[in-house]
Amino acid sequence: MQQLARKTRFLLSTLIVLQISAFSLSAEPLHQSAVAMPDAYSADAARSILEQGGNAVDAAITAHFVLAVTLPEAGNIGGGGFMLIFKNNEGDFIDYRETAPALAHKNMYLDEQGDVIPYKSLFGVHASGTPGSVAGMWLAHKKHGSLPWKTLVQPAVTLAEEGFVVHPKLASSISRYITRLEKREIEVNFADYFAEAKEGKVFKQAELAATLKLIRDKGQDGFYKGKTAKTIAQFMQQHGGIISETDLVNYTAKSRTPIKADWNGFEVLTSPPPSSGGIAILQWLKMFELLKPEQGLELNSTTYVHLLAEIGKRVFADRAEYLGDPDFFDVPVAALTNNEYLKKRSSTISLNAISTTENIKPGLKESEQTTHFSIVDKMGNAVANTTTINLGFGSGVVVEGAGFLLNDEMDDFSAKPGVMNAFGALGGVANEIQPQKRMLSSMTPSILLKDNTVQMVTGSPGGTTIISSVYQSILNAIEFNLNAEQVVNSPRFHHQLWPKNVIRSHEGLSDKVKAELEALGYKVDERRFGDLHVIINKDGKLDAASQASGRGKSIVF
Ligand code: DON
Repeated sequence: MQQLARKTRFLLSTLIVLQISAFSLSAEPLHQSAVAMPDAYSADAARSILEQGGNAVDAAITAHFVLAVTLPEAGNIGGGGFMLIFKNNEGDFIDYRETAPALAHKNMYLDEQGDVIPYKSLFGVHASGTPGSVAGMWLAHKKHGSLPWKTLVQPAVTLAEEGFVVHPKLASSISRYITRLEKREIEVNFADYFAEAKEGKVFKQAELAATLKLIRDKGQDGFYKGKTAKTIAQFMQQHGGIISETDLVNYTAKSRTPIKADWNGFEVLTSPPPSSGGIAILQWLKMFELLKPEQGLELNSTTYVHLLAEIGKRVFADRAEYLGDPDFFDVPVAALTNNEYLKKRSSTISLNAISTTENIKPGLKESEQTTHFSIVDKMGNAVANTTTINLGFGSGVVVEGAGFLLNDEMDDFSAKPGVMNAFGALGGVANEIQPQKRMLSSMTPSILLKDNTVQMVTGSPGGTTIISSVYQSILNAIEFNLNAEQVVNSPRFHHQLWPKNVIRSHEGLSDKVKAELEALGYKVDERRFGDLHVIINKDGKLDAASQASGRGKSIVF
């Protein structure tokens, strides 16, 4: 914390006026690779795959499986995510988000009075959507992989079978989670599997190793068919859950077209629905461009924070109304990111006064845990991957006999209009529960390009705050020309319309700025969020960093 505060003071004293980016225009092939990962095991495994001649997608697949072993808070085979790929000058978006099981229905989290049943969508067997991760990795490999699948899965098998040394931060989050479950009297089997994971000790996961071996040997069928699928379905039946063998065999990961937009001389390649993040960061970045004063703004000054909070109100009003799974709901992507619309939308923002929360309506007329990593290979290909089981350790339920944690992603649906989910997000019809539908996400893996050359790879966990972490990482890099370390560690803030006028912020905004924001009518809630892992191409040289508050590791080689 102290180190962060020191860094922050340094940044604030040196950054006065916004600067124009000095980013590389070079289209030369890169002679370097870089990984920015949420832990050391995934960083070392991804590096090793790249050194064996694998490409960025190969390294990403290995890292994903390794994280299912060494980062159980979020790494997973029982969850889902998004992988944004830039390869051979083309973008691809692998959507491996979980889906609602066939027996899911709109009112499944409501009691007889129509009230939301506390925790039902967050803990236990009812909280999980049908997992998408293994299908996502399989599809990414089929389309873009170059090394054999078995080579890519083996490092995770070894770590599960032979064990890994438990990081102090992992040990403490496990023991805090167990205490929290006990306090809330939530009965799940988490402690049976994880209580033994103690700081500095080797932790082995035999059941998980056996499941990973099936995946290694049979590909996605090792998860969605046969022994693993039967084990999941039987476990669900025994405990009253609804995921069936049919749900598993029917699960399909999808390749979607990424959103691509021009911004500030760059091409932003980002996440389409069912992520809300790509649309949201574009709305944020474009409205900022429209409204920032000609002389620029000081990083994290009162006006800077206020302007971005005002934009956030509008972004989140649109998110609640228009965003959901595009296979079920017609998401007006073009209309929401159109320059004319955003000009109008931002015209009511004042740099000096706060607008009334209740008056901010959706604007179109017609109608703590996830994990991210970034990889660039020396061919110039890039992967931005964000994956999750939703809250830390997901539903707290381990599939007995298969050894992996299930997600609590069903909470990302809108259980009832007007009722907030765990991240304070609201939603309506666009994001109501329907069988096979994907729940709306804020995960926003993103890549910035110039002349078809990767300039930045970014992403973070943090629920709805992901969107702020991502767009502010882009502003930090481009507007303020910060290096990767500074980009990830500079204090960030987040506003999402509700709770009313609350700005959530990292420590590090100056006392003066906080007082001025309070005078404008905001309440500053100091709680850190996110875990950024970014790679920046600075004049042809890669620079990578992982947020200091996490247990990440970045390597340029
Ligand atoms: O998809 C989403 O938006 C959420 N399930 C992400 C959860 C998350 O980032 C939790 N991390 N702190």
